[in-house]
Amino acid sequence: APGAHVPALVIGTGYGGSVAALRLARAGVDVHMVEMGMAWDTPGPDGKIFANTTRPDHRSFWLRTRTKQPLSNFLGFPLDKDVPRYTGILDAEEFGGITVYQGRGVGGGSLVNGGMAVTPRRENFPAVLPTVDPAEMYDVYYPRANAGLEVADVDQGWWESAACYQYARVGRKHAERSGFPFVFVPNVYDWDYMEQEAAGAVPASALDGEVLFGNNHGKKSLQKTYLARAVATGRVAVSPLHRVTSVAPAPGGGYRVLVERLDTTGAVTATTAVTADRVFFAAGSVGTSKLLTRLKATGVLPALNDETGKGWGDNGNVMCGRANHMWDATGSLQSAMPTAGIDNWAAGGVFAEVAPLPTGIETYASFYLSITRNPHRAAFSWNAAAGRVDLDWQTVWKQPSIAAARTVFDKINTKEGTIYRTDLFGSCKIWGDHLTYHPLGGAVLDRATDNHGRLHGYRGLYVIDGALIPGNASVNPFVTITALAERNIEEIIAKDL
Ligand code: FDA
Repeated sequence: APGAHVPALVIGTGYGGSVAALRLARAGVDVHMVEMGMAWDTPGPDGKIFANTTRPDHRSFWLRTRTKQPLSNFLGFPLDKDVPRYTGILDAEEFGGITVYQGRGVGGGSLVNGGMAVTPRRENFPAVLPTVDPAEMYDVYYPRANAGLEVADVDQGWWESAACYQYARVGRKHAERSGFPFVFVPNVYDWDYMEQEAAGAVPASALDGEVLFGNNHGKKSLQKTYLARAVATGRVAVSPLHRVTSVAPAPGGGYRVLVERLDTTGAVTATTAVTADRVFFAAGSVGTSKLLTRLKATGVLPALNDETGKGWGDNGNVMCGRANHMWDATGSLQSAMPTAGIDNWAAGGVFAEVAPLPTGIETYASFYLSITRNPHRAAFSWNAAAGRVDLDWQTVWKQPSIAAARTVFDKINTKEGTIYRTDLFGSCKIWGDHLTYHPLGGAVLDRATDNHGRLHGYRGLYVIDGALIPGNASVNPFVTITALAERNIEEIIAKDL
């Protein structure tokens, strides 16, 4: 309500925001979560909440009139098509040199991601978060995050014979024949449900390709885990289709937060002000960085330090496909939830996910999303003339990622006598180097904030999402984002409340 006062306001409902809300509520603090995306709790005209990956519709993209598929082409045909402008689930946010894909809605990225729940190898952790004690993370907070997210391993016996993981077994075979370490990767998908899908006993979900625009059944998104527990405390209110535009010191103490109410065309239908004692920035790496950069530059929060908006990286994401021989069919049925990785981080700075290509037909393609050790870091800046926040990432900065990925896939191609696919990202283009799924940084821990996410310059303002991680996690990032949030909120509850 206008003029309302809340003890804690959380901007965004992704991993960082959900951890903050649950732990604050359990500590007896009333929490208001503000989320610009939709609630995603109501079926659409087809009886399903989420659109299928292969059949995008108005629900699929955030305020676009044309889809922007990560794989733009297939066998020479462009895949994108016109859709009605709507507050859909996947944002393909375009900056000068990179398109950053993000989830929009209650649950943030957990709504659209592949559910791959990877804890970094301990020896790599000091490079991920140099100022955090590895012992506390590996003894306490990674286990707490994995439990809270309900991370589980696939039953390897079932996996070995499941038709829907033929593509992953081909990925393993090719990795091992070239001498690369193969690893199973945990996931938040309900494996019992998937086995029932495979048996035809329940509606197909991961086995119907549901991932990028939401998953209607088996995936344990935050709506089913942290957020469900947070709401069950009775102390957490969530406002979907509300966007925070300003956080300013309030005359009587605390912060005055301006919130726009959106309709499903993205139009602003009302603006309200809420006063909050504490504000947690959990709008994701890009959302938090954009807000803080603008608020500092426009004099609303001038005491934020010069690290604000800096240290942003793409987690070294680069995609590619390989064309297999006909004896290495990858299967017309592919589970949308990845289970397999090639861990060549130590030797080549690459952790490659053996990714599905759930087209419903046999493609003889192997598809990979590589996470690489890329040294480039970008900065956000306020563009006053255009009234927006820019990011100075350059497309050529993906070259170290491509070079790293080549150390794995050139070798596999040589060994197997195969070639790269050139039809997935345009025509005659091997590398998907125009995008990231894993934005990280922009309000880096112990630089823009103290070592627990307290923003410098303002008591009661915190960052608690992927913006804290300085650009690279060495693996898929959400387990690390969750574990770091668990660590920081424990300290904040103990010392600040
Ligand atoms: P997150 O982005 O989750 O949440 C931020 C929320 O804040 C969003 O809901 C947003 O709408 C909201 N918001 C932003 N600005 C706002 C404002 N001004 N006012 C109100 N609300 C605002 N990771 C992984 O570990 N394994 C995987 O398999 C994958 N796969 C994957 C696939 C795809 C397609 C994508 C796009 C991403 C992944 N990821 C992933 C990445 C992972 O999803 C991502 O790192 C986390 O969701 C980031 O968590 P955060 O808490 O930082 O923000």
